[in-house]
Amino acid sequence: MRRKLAAGNWKMNGTKASLAELSAIPAAAGNSAEVLICPPATLIALAADSTPNIAIGGQDCHAAPSGAHTGDLSAAQLADAGASYVILGHSERRADHGETDTQVRDKTRAAWESGLTAVVCVGETLEEREHANTLEIIGGQLAGSIPDGATAHRLVVAYEPVWAIGTGKVPTMDQIAEVHGFIRARLERRFGAGVGRSTRILYGGSVKPSNAVEIFAVPNVDGALVGGASLKAADFGPIIEALNTAPMEA
Ligand code: PGA
Repeated sequence: MRRKLAAGNWKMNGTKASLAELSAIPAAAGNSAEVLICPPATLIALAADSTPNIAIGGQDCHAAPSGAHTGDLSAAQLADAGASYVILGHSERRADHGETDTQVRDKTRAAWESGLTAVVCVGETLEEREHANTLEIIGGQLAGSIPDGATAHRLVVAYEPVWAIGTGKVPTMDQIAEVHGFIRARLERRFGAGVGRSTRILYGGSVKPSNAVEIFAVPNVDGALVGGASLKAADFGPIIEALNTAPMEA
């Protein structure tokens, strides 16, 4: 059984005052879904200390354990601050910082070495969807970005079509089902049926209270990676609720 995961990615948003939103998230008793917030690094320690019922994650880490890398953070530092997850290979990192699959794989390995669960992001651009084979693109990203030795505890995969992020555009439910089914099959083929079946696959890209119920009913969607709608408890709360009541898959 895969435990559903509602993950919020605050990106470069939020200051200490925003932590009030965390206490307003109904993440305590009664949730069947796990709730994760990835705030900016400046807030990780504060968030981890103030909200024991919400898992806290980073938004990136360096592949090296320490050293002369001004401005970067290691996985061990994230863990030390109280993070248990880290998002890796988000399309904004791939676009803004030119991150490659190989770099994402090295970062994922570093995350595992520090005991963090890696949320590895994959997704096609609009041009790739229109002019190439989306599944081939996703297959290449999965093969290149995930190191050997994945387990369901250490890995979460997030499918985030780049054209759906922050745009209000969402793929059809059939398109989501196709890609999630493909990712599941690839994970089973590479890591074995046990790991493949128990690894969580999140959908990300313009998830909102108004579309969450429909998205969470799609097979192989084990939760969401939510950007804009995770910033306010009034939006994220109903998304968590939709996940709590979504059908469970064996
Ligand atoms: P969005 O972002 O929910 O604002 O579209 C999702 C993400 O980038 O993880």
